[in-house]
Amino acid sequence: MRIFSGIQPTGHMHIGNYLGAGLQYLNYQNQGDFFLMVADLHALTVSQDPKQFSHETLQKIIELLAIGVDPAKCTLFVQSHIQEHSALAWIFNTLTPVGELERMTQYKDKANKQKENINAGLLDYPVLMAADILLYKTDVVPVGQDQVQHLELTRTIAKKFNGTYGKTFPEPKTMLVKEGAKIMSLINPKKKMSKSDPSNSYLALSDEPEIIKKKIAGSVTDKGREIRYDPAKKPGISNLLMIYALCAGQNIKTIEKKFQSKGYALFKKALTTLLSENLDPFRKKYKELEQREVYIKEILSKGNARAQRVATSTMEEVRQKMGLFTL
Ligand code: TYM
Repeated sequence: MRIFSGIQPTGHMHIGNYLGAGLQYLNYQNQGDFFLMVADLHALTVSQDPKQFSHETLQKIIELLAIGVDPAKCTLFVQSHIQEHSALAWIFNTLTPVGELERMTQYKDKANKQKENINAGLLDYPVLMAADILLYKTDVVPVGQDQVQHLELTRTIAKKFNGTYGKTFPEPKTMLVKEGAKIMSLINPKKKMSKSDPSNSYLALSDEPEIIKKKIAGSVTDKGREIRYDPAKKPGISNLLMIYALCAGQNIKTIEKKFQSKGYALFKKALTTLLSENLDPFRKKYKELEQREVYIKEILSKGNARAQRVATSTMEEVRQKMGLFTL
């Protein structure tokens, strides 16, 4: 089974990335042939500081290793190192109606957020994702809820290519966790947690205990003092309950019972302790790996070489099927 996923380099990995996608990476690296990529080309759809950008890419690789991604089990690489992603995206562009891209929810949200920079890459973003995934003839893609629509488009593109040029790509399945596929913002629990929002809206895995304490204390809760999982009526406390349950490895009902009639303050205090303890090994591992740049680069050169082999082979097949002239 071929598994593929990606994460953008910018911003710190947060608890939403971890619970919605990261835990799946750790599971899938034991299930099959897993390719995991840092999507630096996707990140360019937002303006980036060239002085910081390459450091952020390295930092994301370190974060992935610090959560437990094992380079012996998983092919870790950087998107822009494999030119075939862009080449295949161009080909897929010629199969994708602009109208379908304009309907993408994430495009509409982002275009609304960055009105001063609605670049063509923002619209084309899901086509590049389709290229990322199909280049490796992927069977399954573990992601969070926000990527579901992009994966539907990936399957549409695969079908269209196969229908036009002959069976080439599998139609990859979207893999979501049963609970935690959409962790919400701490300050606006009707919106998903996002690293592009202000830092008090998300919990970064690298946050120190004092920061965690501040962020949880400042997180929005709902009217009343009852600790009950009810995302429609009590979105704030429901989100915190979900985070608690997933981090404690228990079900939400058990946590509800545990804090029944205890009040928000006590619950928040317990959640702060749980998170600080759970994230402690991540912070330690991160600090240790930060000192080992040579080792990280070795992992990446191995990963890039393996990704390159698969990418070259798929592109040769694509070129041949499409009748692109080859010497
Ligand atoms: P990115 O970097 O925004 O997020 C990485 C992963 O984290 C998931 N995620 C969440 N899950 C639960 N709750 C949240 N609040 C939350 N926020 C983010 C995302 O769904 C994702 O799985 N476009 C992708 C990167 C990408 C990719 C790909 C993914 C590029 N090519 C091909 C899969 C396959 C992105 O921006 O993820």
